[in-house]
Amino acid sequence: MPRKIILDCDPGHDDALAILAAYGSPAIELLAVTTVCGNQTVDLVTHNALVIGTVAGMRTVKFARGAESPLRREHKAAPDIHGDSGMDGPAPREADIQLDPRAATQLIVETVMTSDPGEITLVATAPLTNLALALRLEPAIAGRVAEVAIMGGAIGQGNMTASAEFNILVDPEAAKEVFEAAWPITMMGLEVSHQALATPDVRTRIRALGNDLGTFVDELLEFFEARYLEHQHFEAAPVHDLCPVVYLIDPTVFDLVRAPIAVETKGELTDGRTVVDLRLPAGLDCRHQVGTGLDHARFWDIVVESIAAIG
Ligand code: BDR
Ligand code: CA
Repeated sequence: MPRKIILDCDPGHDDALAILAAYGSPAIELLAVTTVCGNQTVDLVTHNALVIGTVAGMRTVKFARGAESPLRREHKAAPDIHGDSGMDGPAPREADIQLDPRAATQLIVETVMTSDPGEITLVATAPLTNLALALRLEPAIAGRVAEVAIMGGAIGQGNMTASAEFNILVDPEAAKEVFEAAWPITMMGLEVSHQALATPDVRTRIRALGNDLGTFVDELLEFFEARYLEHQHFEAAPVHDLCPVVYLIDPTVFDLVRAPIAVETKGELTDGRTVVDLRLPAGLDCRHQVGTGLDHARFWDIVVESIAAIG
């Protein structure tokens, strides 16, 4: 049985690949894509999500717009990495998919509460504002989702500051509420996402799909690669947001460690840090696990096969 997921995101180049891999994989039934301000304003990332849905012909998937600002802070976008549109690279396209009339939080709560316990898995590849708001709207969702798989945080160094990764730093208060809720969380932080590199052979395989979708994805990767080279000195782009999706398709691709995770919201130098306590083996009651490594070949086989399956 495919896992039913709602993907909360801010496309975003790597979010785009996450959406496509989730949609194309037979191991996942993508019920909905919800958007939140992050890489760009919520209006821009919502348009980008609808464009991705249009390019891939995602007629069975609902799309809903979410929070336009973090819980308490001013929103800071990431145009240096994702461009002014949030998804620069491919020529601008029109979207021909309609938004669901519900707000993202409403859609998440209604979907979880009207499904069987354990039927829905949440994936977040963006700041955690929508998930925190959904928890506030209906705290019972914490006991009903199978799992929350997140791209965000780091065990060690961040990418926005020495301590903090982008998705957590945009809305640390929301991340704190999400990590403190009583649901199982798998955190894919920078230790794994920096291994999810779209190397030249990966880009060749995607171009070789030979269709509009393959061209679109490669144009995204081309822009992303150039920005990562310029700003963070990466030779190939780390496609962070694929990590939680590939984890749900096949968790054996990753090395995982169970450990309690907390979010720093007040530190002068450590604001937005995910504090992962690896001092001792975690107790059986620990609800958190963190990715520490991945099998690059198997990871990209899954991604390329999933995108190829869209046709
Ligand atoms: C995360 O930040 C965003 O720019 C990416 O889409 C990814 O979700 C990586 O730190
Ligand atoms: Ca993202």
